[in-house]
Amino acid sequence: SPFLARDAAGTLTLEGHALAGLAHEFATPLYVYSRQAMRAAVTAYQQALAGRPHLVCYAMKANSSLAVLQTFAEAGCGFDIVSAGELQRVLAAGGSADQVVFSGVGKTRAEMRLALEAGVRCFNVESEAELDVLSEVATAMGKTAPISLRVNPDVDAKTHPYISTGLKGNKFGISHEHALAVYQHAARLPGIAVHGIDCHIGSQITEISPYLDALDRVLDLVEAIEAAGIPVHHLDLGGGLGITYTDEQPPTADALIGALLAKIDARGHGHREILMEPGRSLVGNAGVLLTEVLYLKPGEHKNFCIVDAAMNDMARPAMYEAWMGIVPCRQRGEAAQTWDVVGPVCESGDWLGRDRALAVQPGDTLAMLSAGAYGMTMASNYNSRPRAAEVMVDGAQVTLIRARETVESLFAGERLIDGHSRL
Ligand code: LLP
Repeated sequence: SPFLARDAAGTLTLEGHALAGLAHEFATPLYVYSRQAMRAAVTAYQQALAGRPHLVCYAMKANSSLAVLQTFAEAGCGFDIVSAGELQRVLAAGGSADQVVFSGVGKTRAEMRLALEAGVRCFNVESEAELDVLSEVATAMGKTAPISLRVNPDVDAKTHPYISTGLKGNKFGISHEHALAVYQHAARLPGIAVHGIDCHIGSQITEISPYLDALDRVLDLVEAIEAAGIPVHHLDLGGGLGITYTDEQPPTADALIGALLAKIDARGHGHREILMEPGRSLVGNAGVLLTEVLYLKPGEHKNFCIVDAAMNDMARPAMYEAWMGIVPCRQRGEAAQTWDVVGPVCESGDWLGRDRALAVQPGDTLAMLSAGAYGMTMASNYNSRPRAAEVMVDGAQVTLIRARETVESLFAGERLIDGHSRL
């Protein structure tokens, strides 16, 4: 991110703020985000889509803190949600339901009711069974549910199997072969109004070609669906654009969208509204996770650098063996040694980085890079660890956007059992 820099004195800064200073002020583990980086990322999408009807729906599972949502709402974004909880967050942050698309394979009736009541823009329906339930719920409320079907184009996004979603073996979407029949079924249901078509093939995608393959298959379907007399208003092309963690070279949003629009126009679909659901590429490189070095534990086989952030704060390395950059906030002159950077959680899988060359001492602050996406949203309270605080910088303004969780709040909903226990 151009907003993250190292100054002449070797101090790492985000929008000019020394990160070690923020760690000192707000304590660690601490997430720090650049609001300007988020704005720049969304502007790139919006400018590439300018001149035709479009809506960028930020996939808020990447980072759903209220101030982050507020930032995107103010930038004119809609939101891609996957639960009632996410809808409530959008509303609490000042977003409007009519710019929300509701994805996910397991929407409950209660979630459907809440979304219909709020008036979401579109349900991205993932199965025929869900479609029938949605029609029933909407009819009972005297409403019609706007839908698109999420189709599974069966293309390989060439990404990690855990975050690839567009292949036949995935739980997501409706298979390409069944899609037309399900659209015909949808068109006959009383509580359903067909608005569009939707497709999302995976995450951390670093090539354009899988997107173009998926788009071709989606457009084939749109033509077949319209030939069957069912108008398809919008194309939702999903999210998934990758970011640079180490040496990946994903296309820019501009390049990706340029290629997509060229195909859409060439195939005569230029009049359609375009929706997209980017998550990671809007926030990933806007954030860092700051952590303090607690102890150094050099060993025969491995040197361990034990820090105060752990897998409960950032699950990606433990879950996907994801590589994320780890750098000191203030450079030391000493020679680097090789360390495994690990947290205090009682799991061997609790590591943040392996075999990293670092010159560190206890008390130093390290920054884990590209931590703005799928960091805080995937945090847990394992080992009764309160979740980290979050800070947003925006030029001169520094805001604590989420207070560090307290231990008391972790067990506030728990109860001891009354009376004498029976043996
Ligand atoms: N739309 C749908 C329907 C999705 O399932 C996702 C992500 C997105 C949009 C946004 O994708 P993005 O632009 O962020 O790639 N926790 C994993 C990533 C899981 C992605 C799940 N779906 C990770 O940390 O890599």
